[in-house]
Amino acid sequence: MKNLTELRKLLEDYQENNSFTRAPRELYEPANYMMNLGGKRLRPLLALVAYQMFRPSYLREALPIAHTVEIFHNFTLVHDDIMDDAPIRRGKPTVHTKWNDNTAILSGDVMLIAAYESLMTFKDEGRLSRLVRVFNRVAREVCEGQQMDMNFEQRGDVSIEDYLHMIELKTAVLLGGSLEMGAIAAHAKEKDVTNLSEFGRYIGIAFQLQDDILDTFGDADKFGKRIGGDIVQNKKTFLLLKAMKEGTGQQSKRLRELYSEMPADEEAKIEEVTHIFRDIGIHDIAAAERDKFRDKAFGHLEEVQVAEEEKGLLHEMTDLVITREH
Ligand code: IPE
Ligand code: IPE
Ligand code: MG
Ligand code: MG
Ligand code: MG
Repeated sequence: MKNLTELRKLLEDYQENNSFTRAPRELYEPANYMMNLGGKRLRPLLALVAYQMFRPSYLREALPIAHTVEIFHNFTLVHDDIMDDAPIRRGKPTVHTKWNDNTAILSGDVMLIAAYESLMTFKDEGRLSRLVRVFNRVAREVCEGQQMDMNFEQRGDVSIEDYLHMIELKTAVLLGGSLEMGAIAAHAKEKDVTNLSEFGRYIGIAFQLQDDILDTFGDADKFGKRIGGDIVQNKKTFLLLKAMKEGTGQQSKRLRELYSEMPADEEAKIEEVTHIFRDIGIHDIAAAERDKFRDKAFGHLEEVQVAEEEKGLLHEMTDLVITREH
């Protein structure tokens, strides 16, 4: 069994050997830039850890799958940063800021293709068609979640239930899918595949709740993204939806006003909304909600039929996801 540091190394080496080397440079340079900005590599690690639980001696077989989910994730980020008008990612300029929107669109497209190409190098034809089907479902759902996220920017009647469904699609299904694909590749039993997928889905919801918390309450240097971006963009996050419910009539009315148009003064809006959130104690309410989903996730992990010590890495990763500051 490899530990997380060893798995990360294996992954980084594989990624380096499979970087984009083709021409034209203008298409592939932004793709390499994005891949090498240094993300947490959460999704490919989940794929490797899931595989390793069932078939540790053949771990290298899972590398194309791990690479697939990481390229796909990076593709979604390149396009997401255009949609969210985000200037900074992983502490560096976003692709569309460093180059331009057209470059970010096309480099993102070619990354999506590369994600499929990587998957097609998985050696076992028998399991490949199922892996492609799972990946297709996940990729489609991420797009659906992203569209819902944008639709919600314009809506004033989004419920917490709507929000949870949206983040399940845009974020959680890819974490679940990474574990699911790793487990399928390793010939895990159906029940274990399902429980790992569900575990990942709930961890994914907790992960997006933490992302929303950090977007308002994080430290810009550690988070590597602009603080307050969700507030500027009128994102219907858990923080906002819960604050509308828990706040006084006055506070809810003011939030509704602030979220009904794009701000003339972005910093003033961020400051005022954050102040209201603090008054209501929304940070701790959101953290409690996040921990509720983490606990649900652990319920599914308990059901996975492998020795308890083999689940250690997933416990370790969950802690990283939940208490992360970036
Ligand atoms: C960012 O994902 C997008 C979300 C779903 C919140 P990560 O926080 O995993 O991004 P990197 O890859 O570590 O930068
Ligand atoms: C991103 O959600 C989800 C996907 C990219 C699919 P966010 O828009 O919250 O992610 P960040 O905060 O920009 O990383
Ligand atoms: Mg977004
Ligand atoms: Mg974004
Ligand atoms: Mg975010």
